[in-house]
Amino acid sequence: MTLSKKPYKGTRDFIPEDKRVQDYLFQKMHQCAQLFGYEHYDGPLLEEVELYKAKSGEELINDQIYSFEDRGGRFVAIRPEMTPTVARMVAKIHKEVAKPIRWYSIPNLLRYERPQRGRLREHWQFNCDIFGGPGRMGEAEIIQLIIFFLESFGANESHFEVLINDRTIVDTIFTEVTDNEETHYKLYKLVDKSKKIPKDSLEKELSELNLNAKSIELFQNYLSLQSFSDLTSLLTKLGKKEIADDFHKFISDSISSDQLPYLKYDPTIVRGLDYYTGIVFEVFDKHPDNRRAICGGGAYANLLQIFNESPLPGVGFGLGDVTLQDFLTSHNLLPDLSKPENDLLITFQTDSGLQDLSSLINKLRKGNIKVVTHLEAIKLKKVFPLAEKKGADFILLYGDDEKAKGEVTLKKLSRKLQSSFPIDDLNTITNFIHKA
Ligand code: HAM
Repeated sequence: MTLSKKPYKGTRDFIPEDKRVQDYLFQKMHQCAQLFGYEHYDGPLLEEVELYKAKSGEELINDQIYSFEDRGGRFVAIRPEMTPTVARMVAKIHKEVAKPIRWYSIPNLLRYERPQRGRLREHWQFNCDIFGGPGRMGEAEIIQLIIFFLESFGANESHFEVLINDRTIVDTIFTEVTDNEETHYKLYKLVDKSKKIPKDSLEKELSELNLNAKSIELFQNYLSLQSFSDLTSLLTKLGKKEIADDFHKFISDSISSDQLPYLKYDPTIVRGLDYYTGIVFEVFDKHPDNRRAICGGGAYANLLQIFNESPLPGVGFGLGDVTLQDFLTSHNLLPDLSKPENDLLITFQTDSGLQDLSSLINKLRKGNIKVVTHLEAIKLKKVFPLAEKKGADFILLYGDDEKAKGEVTLKKLSRKLQSSFPIDDLNTITNFIHKA
């Protein structure tokens, strides 16, 4: 049998060229989270299945989770998301630490999906969550952080939008549609998939819920809302204007004016995960070829209660590396990372070159200069294409002439600068590299 060279379906190999891009994304994630005072945490790859059964929702449990019985008879799952893990970890320590708790991580997650653009079986997800923030300040900060993060790549309002809703509002409207809790839950699931299924399938599924004509009309009115002001009109008609006013006040008082243009009310955003209780949002790419969610999240007031802890409210988001990379590529916002970055390529054109240079190479590396060595003698005309491939800013040449004089020759490639130095004059060589 010949073994396939392909990675498992829906997962990726990262050759250095690909890993460089992912490293760049991770570096920006660390940088941004830390600028907002979020602390890095991590958790295990495996959790007990029960953790997800409690609140993650039926789609994740029935269709997407990788689970198995371990040798000790425990039912475990590979993490499909990080929120239950972070809630479990916070539940363990929250009484001892100052609030708010601001944590971030970049775990790899596995979901059994049909691989397609923007959806794989394994992805890495930037998670930021804040627990115990006063009032609605945590929710506002999380939205600010996402916008700040995407702007740090040079993205702006023409590239993405933040579609937002609030489950307390949806609850209010659905309670007017029906007082049956099970139907209420089904309406949520229907809204969640409303953009993904044809209109007639939606109508068919709606008709199966046995609602009266007035309730169906209200549900359809809700689904056709286009803006914050449409929402206010509907809630006013239902005698619930104060709920709309509260939501409006939260948006206008807590989100800075330069970030407001990113926000758009969208009734179809309710999120598939069951633990959300307050605001819910998804960041959408505006590129016509890539209309998909880059990021999703929301507020969850009661998740810690599954661990018998007091309900410390949390809010956060997950942003996937696959969707982020697609987003940045569609808008041409990724720098050129096709080559590695090295300061200096060491080459020699004489016998015993590497031996003669070994002490210098060691000292340069100790001085934090990234040095890549060619391990055998190489002709001068081949040095330049090699330096290009290695992404080196400088090359060092060491031929018979240099050997005879006890020197090395350095060239700065971009400026065609060249100079020779005594092989043991580390200071001058280092200065040349730093200043040329
Ligand atoms: P989610 O909407 O399931 O939320 O995932 C968040 C983001 O992760 C998506 O918008 C997408 O960018 C990425 N993502 C999800 N599944 C895949 C996949 N199969 N392939 C590639 N990318 C994917 C959550 O997971 C919540 N736990 C987020 C959260 C954190 N809520 C509060 N805190």
